[in-house]
Amino acid sequence: MKSARDVIERDLDHICGNLREEFTEMAGKCLLITGGAGFLGHYLVQAVLHWNEKYDRKRPVRLTVYDNFIRGVPSWLERIKGDKSLTLVRHDVTDPLPSNVGHFQYIVHAACIASPTYYRKVPIQTMDANVNGLRHFLDYCHARKEEGRGVEGFLYYSTSEIYGDPTPENIPTPETYRGNVSCTGPRACYDESKRYGETLCVNFANHYDLPVKVARPFNNYGPGLKITDRRVLPDFARDVFSGKDIVMLSDGSPTRTFCYVADAIVGYYKILVRGRKGEAYNIGVEEPEISMAELADRVVRLSAELFGYRGKVVKRESRDKEYLVDNPARRCPTIAKARNDIGYNPAIGIDEGLRRSLLWYNDNREAEDA
Ligand SMILES: NC(=O)c1ccc[n+]([C@@H]2O[C@H](COP(=O)([O-])OP(=O)(O)OC[C@H]3O[C@@H](n4cnc5c(N)ncnc54)[C@H](O)[C@@H]3O)[C@@H](O)[C@H]2O)c1
Repeated sequence: MKSARDVIERDLDHICGNLREEFTEMAGKCLLITGGAGFLGHYLVQAVLHWNEKYDRKRPVRLTVYDNFIRGVPSWLERIKGDKSLTLVRHDVTDPLPSNVGHFQYIVHAACIASPTYYRKVPIQTMDANVNGLRHFLDYCHARKEEGRGVEGFLYYSTSEIYGDPTPENIPTPETYRGNVSCTGPRACYDESKRYGETLCVNFANHYDLPVKVARPFNNYGPGLKITDRRVLPDFARDVFSGKDIVMLSDGSPTRTFCYVADAIVGYYKILVRGRKGEAYNIGVEEPEISMAELADRVVRLSAELFGYRGKVVKRESRDKEYLVDNPARRCPTIAKARNDIGYNPAIGIDEGLRRSLLWYNDNREAEDA
C-alpha cells in the first residue's frame, strides 16, 4: 500500500468482506444515512457503493444521504455523487422531514458535529440534531409501523462521551456503567444530548416495539477524518505534513484506545442489522490503551519511516481555555457485548491503522473546510 487509493480499496474490501451477510440482507432495500458527508459517512457511504459495484450489481442497496454540509462538501463525495444508487439531499435534520421523503427499510442517524472544537461553536444546533432531529426519524419509524411497512433497522449514533470521566473501577467501561458527566460544562451540549437521545431510542424501541439500536463509538480515526477537524490525529498529521514539530496541547497523559475506522464501520452495520432492539453497543478496541504522548511518539516514528519526517514532539498550552475542560482522563471500553451479540471483531492494530491514516493524509493534506 503506497497511496490513499490503495488504502481506501483495501479498507472497503475489509468492510464488505466482513459484512457479507448484513449487506445481503439489505440488498435491494433503501437505506438512509444522515450526516453522510462526515468522517464516518466517508466509509458508511462508500462501503455500500463498493458492495453494490463489486458484489451485487443486480440488487443494489439504494442509498440516500441527508446532510446540511455544515462542515463542507468533501471532495470524496463530489467524486461519487453521480453514482446511480446514491441520492444526495441537502437537508438539516432539525427541520421536519422533506415532504417527498421515501420509504426506508434502514436508517442510520449520524448527523451531528463530532469535533469538540466545532460543536462548541454551535451548541444549540448540536443538541437539536441529537434530540429534535432524532425525534423526526423515530416518529417516522413509528408512523411506518402503523402503516404496516415498518423499518427493519434504525441505528442512532451516541458516543462513548455519555460515560463522561469514568471512575477507575469502571475502566474498561461496560455498557452498564451509568456515567460521570457534567450537565452544564462546555461539552455538555454534546454529551447530555446524546444521553437524552439514547433515552428517546430505548423508549421508542420498547413502547412502540421498533428495531431501534444505539452505537457508542470510542475514538475512531482514519481516512475521511479531515485534516482540519481539530481532533487529535488530524492535528498531528497537519503538523507532520507542514514540516513542523508535533504540538501536544495537553500534558500528554490522557489515555485512549483508538479504533481504526474500517473496523468500526463493520461494527456499526452489524448493529444496524443484527443488534438487539433497544440496546446500546460499545464500538472500539480494548487495547492498547495509550497516552497522547505515546500516540504522538508513534506518529513521529511512522512518519519518519514513511516520509523521512524529522520533527519531534513539543508541548504547548491551547489558546482555547476550555479545550481540556471535562476532557476524560481515560477512555477504554469493554466490547464483549458487541463481540458476543453481533460478531464484532476488530482486527486492524494501532500501528497498521496509523500507517494507513498517514498514507491517506499524505494525499489529502488540503483543507476542505466550509
Ligand atoms: N468519529 C468518532 O470517533 C465518533 C465518536 C463518538 C460519536 N460519534 C458520532 O458519530 C456520528 C458521526 O461522527 P463523525 O465523526 O462522522 O462526525 P463529523 O463531524 O465528521 O460529521 C458529521 C456530519 O453531520 C452533518 N451534520 C451536522 N449537523 C447536521 C444537521 N443538523 N443536519 C444535517 N447534517 C448535519 C455534518 O455536515 C457532517 O457531514 C456523530 O453523531 C458523532 O457524534 C463519532
